[in-house]
Amino acid sequence: MKILLTGGNGQLGTDLRRALGFAELVTTTRNGEDADAALDVGDVDAVENLIRALGPDVVVNAAAYTAVDRAESEVDAALAANARGPGAMARACAATGAMLVHYSTDYVFDGASAQPYREQDATSPLGVYGLSKLEGEQAIRASGARHLILRTAWVYAMHGHNFLRTMLRLGAERDELRVVADQTGCPTPAWLIADTTARLLSRGDAMPAGTRHLVASGTTTWHGFADAIFDEALRHGLIDRRPRLVPIATADYPTPARRPAYSVLSTDALVADLGEALPHWRDALALTFVNR
Ligand SMILES: NC(=O)c1ccc[n+]([C@@H]2O[C@H](COP(=O)([O-])OP(=O)(O)OC[C@H]3O[C@@H](n4cnc5c(N)ncnc54)[C@H](OP(=O)(O)O)[C@@H]3O)[C@@H](O)[C@H]2O)c1
Repeated sequence: MKILLTGGNGQLGTDLRRALGFAELVTTTRNGEDADAALDVGDVDAVENLIRALGPDVVVNAAAYTAVDRAESEVDAALAANARGPGAMARACAATGAMLVHYSTDYVFDGASAQPYREQDATSPLGVYGLSKLEGEQAIRASGARHLILRTAWVYAMHGHNFLRTMLRLGAERDELRVVADQTGCPTPAWLIADTTARLLSRGDAMPAGTRHLVASGTTTWHGFADAIFDEALRHGLIDRRPRLVPIATADYPTPARRPAYSVLSTDALVADLGEALPHWRDALALTFVNR
């Protein structure tokens, strides 16, 4: 199986390189560093030319514009990477018969629900990033390509830019951290998304298609997540003292982009496909530290 992986140096891209090692893997990064080729996924001609020239069986798109706050002022860059690029990718996949695996986000929802969002629930993004990701989903569905859109949330890893790494850095610098305690979600390690993608792809033609939610099970707040991160960091000797964690409200930490207050995703559909439950977020966090 020949797989084209884009965004190979992101959080998820890094773990996908490992998880997709069973395949003939062609990896791209934006500038070509540490990869087989350069690909700016916002460049629709380059996207189409590469897919047509390479003729992969599967395209796994781990590239995305993920700067949620900056997207509010960089609308075109967000739309290029998250909407127009994936649309071009999907059309090239439709033309060449390749399958497209793409990742999307809980930010397509507004967070006003009180129960886990299912795949078919109404979307209503609160900001440019969520809107750009939603337009990417819609372009892929409209392309006629065989595709699997995996919506995930609160992604972290021991590498890259994420909440876990920010907490460890700030916790080493400060005695007290103020952390938002009124947003609820599902922290999900990049390795879980990568390993699940590999499992699904290894089914070949029997792999599910359409849209699925892929997050660890259970829920917490950013404050609860931070608390668990410092528990694990202490247990593994990465820190010798915990900072004091002060719960705050979203309103006390204004950001350019609004975030959903409740972004819990129901994974019932994917769990049925897999035939087994997804790990609890707290166990997945512990494993992330063990295997770091
Ligand atoms: N992070 C989260 O909490 C989260 C939550 C929900 C869903 N997701 C989704 O999960 C997927 C993976 O995200 P991630 O957490 O791995 O993000 P990430 O760590 O920010 O990685 C994104 C990658 O995309 C690359 N990229 C950005 N713009 C590009 C462009 N125009 N052309 C080529 N490459 C480009 C970045 O390269 P540079 O380093 O050169 O910028 C980076 O390697 C994305 O679809 C994202 O929307 C993420």
